[in-house]
Amino acid sequence: MRAEASVIGTGIMGRGIALLFALNNFKVVIYDSSPESLNKAKDLIAKDLSLMIDEQLVPAGKKQAALDNIVTVDKLSSAVVNSDFIVEAVPERLELKWDIYAQIEACAKDEYTIASNTSTLPISDLAKHLVRPERLLITHFFNPAHLVPLVEIVKSEKNSAEVVSATLSLMEKLGKVPVILKKEVPGFIANRLQAALLREALYLIDSGVADAQDIDNIVTSGLGFRWSTLGPIEIADYGGLDTWQSVMANLSPELDCSKSVPTVIKQLNQQGHLGIKTGRGFYQYEEGQGTLAAGKIGARDLAFIRLLKLRQQRGT
Ligand SMILES: NC(=O)c1ccc[n+]([C@@H]2O[C@H](COP(=O)([O-])OP(=O)(O)OC[C@H]3O[C@@H](n4cnc5c(N)ncnc54)[C@H](O)[C@@H]3O)[C@@H](O)[C@H]2O)c1
Repeated sequence: MRAEASVIGTGIMGRGIALLFALNNFKVVIYDSSPESLNKAKDLIAKDLSLMIDEQLVPAGKKQAALDNIVTVDKLSSAVVNSDFIVEAVPERLELKWDIYAQIEACAKDEYTIASNTSTLPISDLAKHLVRPERLLITHFFNPAHLVPLVEIVKSEKNSAEVVSATLSLMEKLGKVPVILKKEVPGFIANRLQAALLREALYLIDSGVADAQDIDNIVTSGLGFRWSTLGPIEIADYGGLDTWQSVMANLSPELDCSKSVPTVIKQLNQQGHLGIKTGRGFYQYEEGQGTLAAGKIGARDLAFIRLLKLRQQRGT
């Protein structure tokens, strides 16, 4: 019998995850408590899929089958009752996620996995009220989930070995690059690395060393250019660990280690400049949520698709 997955929450992340499963021939049942979000989900997914087809990442012949694999339902119980793998992608509020898990436990079949897409909540907190905590783990996808290869997997002490190994194999089958955290840590790994870099970047802006565009040029043309092929640890090996020992000795005392939110981001928030969705963040955008944001996101996805194709050609 064909494997069935379900996705609870059809926002930014849930839609990408649903598309990923659908492209890999799963039946995917999607549910959202907001009829508006649920009703527009399939159209938005179809648009993302069309871009993948236009760029020949996915053969055109797979389009209809992939869309047919996605089934929309208006009750959570209908979404999970036959599901083998249930992805929870609702907003980052612990009580809300607990409520979803209680509803899932009340109607799921005997053998199932709940995978939370939380980006920050500890697995031990998520699992606190579960009757069967061994069935819950975290699969942390990255936006857009149908394109970014990485998935962080966070397991709990209560997980059965079978749930963890089956999830790992499933992520590989979906074409992802899964990394299992060896132990629980706040922010997992990717967001800790990202936040460490952003803290230093914002410190440099606050100190007048660079502006936002300088920082972004340095990352996209220098660091990020290399990181798409070599990670920072391998780069240290290539550069020489004697050199890197000196770099760390000279720079560690100089790096920002403040425990508070950097001033520049607090100020922008106070002024209501929240980024592309309000038309202004560190940069000025001509419009807010309308076509410009959609166009920018489309351009981003196009670049990601081309990068993904390069990785596929290289066999990585
Ligand atoms: N946005 C990102 O870049 C990103 C990246 C990685 C992980 N995450 C995590 O993924 C999760 C979802 O984030 P998102 O960005 O997709 O959020 P989102 O706000 O875009 O989507 C959440 C969806 O959940 C729905 N929802 C709310 N309450 C619900 C309920 N009781 N039952 C069913 N659906 C409900 C909302 O209507 C909405 O459509 C969060 O835990 C977030 O931290 C987000």
